[in-house]
Amino acid sequence: MSKPLEGIKIIDFTHVQAGPACTQMLAWFGADVIKVERPGAGDVTRSQLRDIPGVDALYFTMLNSNKRSLTLDTKTADGKEILTKLIKESDVLVENFGPGALDRMGFTWEHIRELNPGMIVASVKGFSDGHHYEDLKVYENVAQCAGGAASTTGFDDGPPTVSAAALGDSNTGMHLAIGILTALRSRDVTGRGQKVAVSMQDSVLNLCRVKLRDQQRLDRVGYLEEYPQYPHGTFSDVVPRGGNAGGGGQPGWVLKCKGWENDPNAYIYFTIQGHAWAPICRAIGKEEWIDDPAYMTAQARQDKIFSIFGTIEEWLKDKTKFEAVDVLRKFDIPCSPVLSMKEIANDPSLRASGTITEVDHKERGKYLTVGSPIKFSDLKVEIKGSPLLGEHTDEILESLGYSQNQIAALHEQRVV
Ligand code: COA
Repeated sequence: MSKPLEGIKIIDFTHVQAGPACTQMLAWFGADVIKVERPGAGDVTRSQLRDIPGVDALYFTMLNSNKRSLTLDTKTADGKEILTKLIKESDVLVENFGPGALDRMGFTWEHIRELNPGMIVASVKGFSDGHHYEDLKVYENVAQCAGGAASTTGFDDGPPTVSAAALGDSNTGMHLAIGILTALRSRDVTGRGQKVAVSMQDSVLNLCRVKLRDQQRLDRVGYLEEYPQYPHGTFSDVVPRGGNAGGGGQPGWVLKCKGWENDPNAYIYFTIQGHAWAPICRAIGKEEWIDDPAYMTAQARQDKIFSIFGTIEEWLKDKTKFEAVDVLRKFDIPCSPVLSMKEIANDPSLRASGTITEVDHKERGKYLTVGSPIKFSDLKVEIKGSPLLGEHTDEILESLGYSQNQIAALHEQRVV
């Protein structure tokens, strides 16, 4: 089966997580992604958090599958010549260097455009061009703090908290992938490439837009009724941390199940969807609440929402999180067990759909990774192992017209 992005050649100058997550996804969908890495060292994640001495770390293998690896010192004259040749025959260059690094390498946007007017240059930076922090280098948690996620996550009596989800890194990579595909579509029409830039701060903020909604509501009315601070607590003039409260109009909370004393994940997330009030009452054996004016409307429940959650926890006391969800699903109540990574790794449904998939790596053997979360009717995404450092250097140089002798000399001089 041919893949939709087959024929698109991508120079992948990305490292760590934000950029690699983007190019990995494009590789899954068929693009030829050539990961350019410094000879000898490569992407820093190859050696970060290693679990097997001398073998590429999972940090690398899980973000660089389906790619080819070319080692190249782009600060040497020969290295620049090779990169120039590659640029002339590629469609996209993706990078997430620190600010100005590509320019300092001698490959400004203007120069790349001269070499190949159809080229799309896609960049991740911590902050957008012209931002007063544009010179800053940025990692995941820095972006979560700059994009409004940290100030609005956690509990009211605790400090700003970052999420385990890679809102700054992989999320920015996904935004960049959308930008690249949009620019490719535009190039189909105009024949011209363009610069695509995504900042980590902006990408985090894009996912925190409901918190900007809340800031404006708070400015106007002085309180936020879906937050645990309402109606008994107090609000200041900034959006507070809402703990585990449901973000929209449906109150929710993480509730204890049987075994919570010893199992850190013996919980479910329970949502009180307005129109599901009667089924909830039936499910938890509180039929008398169905028509009780003190409980029957969302507004009436508001000031006793935590005592209602307490009653539900009483009901949950003798049920595991899985047993509880099996009951609640019959009543159409939006809920989920809080799943540990171990449970996710072994989840038969996730295995069957390919969202959790086992991959073979030349040196590591088999390991688990997260497959494509996007499912297509006409494309089966096949996840392959990540490349070893420089595994495809010679074949790429040959395809650029270098002879065996020239390639040997480039190795000798440590250009590749
Ligand atoms: N050959 C020669 N030099 C190379 C090279 C290659 N193949 N690949 C990279 N380099 C050089 C760069 O040109 C740069 O040199 P310079 O600073 O002398 O001009 C140097 O390596 C370091 O690059 P940099 O990206 O700044 O690395 P860093 O380790 O100092 O910073 C980050 C890492 C992630 C903080 C930084 O890259 C960054 O802020 N990136 C943008 C935001 C981002 O994506 N962050 C999230 C990562 S998950």
